[in-house]
Amino acid sequence: MIWSLRSFTLPAILALFGFCLLAFAQSRQVSIVPKPVLLTVQEGTFHLTPETAIVADNAALPEARQLSRQLSPATGFALEVKTAGDGSVIDMRIDPLLNKLGEEGYLLTVTPKSVSMRAPKSAGLFYAGQSLRQLLPQAIFREARVSGTEWTIPCVHVEDYPRFPWRGAMLDTGRHFMPKEFVLKFIDLLALHKMNSFHWHLTDDQGWRLEIKKYPKLTEGGAWRKETVVGNIEGKSQKDLTFDGTPHGGFYTQDDAREVVEYARARHVNVVPEIEMPGHAQAAIAAYPKLGNTGEKLEVFTQWGVDANIFNPKESTIKFLQDVLSEVMELFPSRYIHTGGDEAVKTQWKSSPDAQSRIKELGLKDEEELQGYFTRRMDEFLTSKGRRLIGWDEILEGGLAPNAAVMSWRGEKGGIAAAKASHDVVMAPTDYTYLDYYQSKDRSKEPLAIGGYVPLEVVYNYEPIAKEIPPEYAKHILGSQCQLWTEYMATTKHVEYMAYPRLSALAEVTWSPREKKDYPEFLKRLEVHLKRLSTLDVNYRQLDGPK
Ligand code: ACM
Repeated sequence: MIWSLRSFTLPAILALFGFCLLAFAQSRQVSIVPKPVLLTVQEGTFHLTPETAIVADNAALPEARQLSRQLSPATGFALEVKTAGDGSVIDMRIDPLLNKLGEEGYLLTVTPKSVSMRAPKSAGLFYAGQSLRQLLPQAIFREARVSGTEWTIPCVHVEDYPRFPWRGAMLDTGRHFMPKEFVLKFIDLLALHKMNSFHWHLTDDQGWRLEIKKYPKLTEGGAWRKETVVGNIEGKSQKDLTFDGTPHGGFYTQDDAREVVEYARARHVNVVPEIEMPGHAQAAIAAYPKLGNTGEKLEVFTQWGVDANIFNPKESTIKFLQDVLSEVMELFPSRYIHTGGDEAVKTQWKSSPDAQSRIKELGLKDEEELQGYFTRRMDEFLTSKGRRLIGWDEILEGGLAPNAAVMSWRGEKGGIAAAKASHDVVMAPTDYTYLDYYQSKDRSKEPLAIGGYVPLEVVYNYEPIAKEIPPEYAKHILGSQCQLWTEYMATTKHVEYMAYPRLSALAEVTWSPREKKDYPEFLKRLEVHLKRLSTLDVNYRQLDGPK
């Protein structure tokens, strides 16, 4: 009796245990962010083991190697990448017949026997890999080996492609310098969210952050300010401002920039560099006073807000800036080069004899048209090199340059007007995409921010194709991006607190089908996604606010 009970009990317990594990694995919620176009979950799981091989055709080999590298730290497996094989495989292939999925779409099929990834281009295979990572237990995001985890993947079929070609985020490294390692982490997180555009704000009044070989003073002097204003300056008069007395600065060498561009390229992220002109120029003018209007010796700006220092419109300054853009183009293969154009205060041009004679000589109406002329010169220059100028929506005011694309930040009006004039547009309106704005109405518990109120749900519900845009012009809306201006974010932790999870919501706005939007359902997936971000050591804001 005892013998038979024993012989029955042990296998039964093991079977029950196995069944529970299986049920647990199958019940694991599939929570891919951004939500795929089509996803069906089937019975069963695929087990990733040290014997699993990644089989790829020649065109898919770089993505296969990248996936093997991404799955290695947590599993401890060095998954072999080869061009033929069967058994337990992840099978990755470029298939031109799938062109209907677009430049970035993919198919992902997981069965108990194999994983298959198919895409018309390598970007799609990369995104299939990002979905696969999100189907694995979240420990896959650990940097160090995790023992005792079953690396199971639920059986699914995914058919997926993005809604918009421009899905991005802007990081302001002018107001506060952000270390290169953080920029790389930021790009990794964009890629995890299937975002493909990193807009790198590299110059501003408070600091010039990119080494330019021809003009070394831009970073020797322009990358450093002697101190920084303390607290929110809103409504304060000049005499009430206090300063921290601590120098702040830093810059990216050209090697740093090349490293960032290559790191991003491997992750299918395009880096759009921004060199601000003609406004937000004080750091550059502090480095090279001949670029200014007044002859006054300036220092790198130590406070926030819009200041009056603007590049002069002389031919020598245009040449200087085109030299800068030439070096920028050598470093950044991006088709789009951002030349700012926002908040260019015209008072100095109004009282400058040089600017006024330029207006006369060119037969322009006023200073707005002078900015239009300035932008057109940059547009012609960039176009002649096979690139395209993109600028903030102020570039519409002096007559839009023929090839320019517009980034609409002061609401959507500029973007709508530009799209209707057949110019390409990236929607970046303050009310929905400014992640430097507060995330809660109760500011008392939040870290100091610039103002405003853009909670997660507002970002999630943003619709980039404004209803005023006639359907035949909708194709000019390239997409949308979120903005991280860093006046009030001195640390990388603070940037992350402002960025996540609102950036996850914008990823969904720009990738997922409009008709699939469902905020409560997004929140359920987000709960799982936030655990991933935790594992990745991201300082995101908790959904119920700061603790
Ligand atoms: C901006 O926020 N000044 C583009």
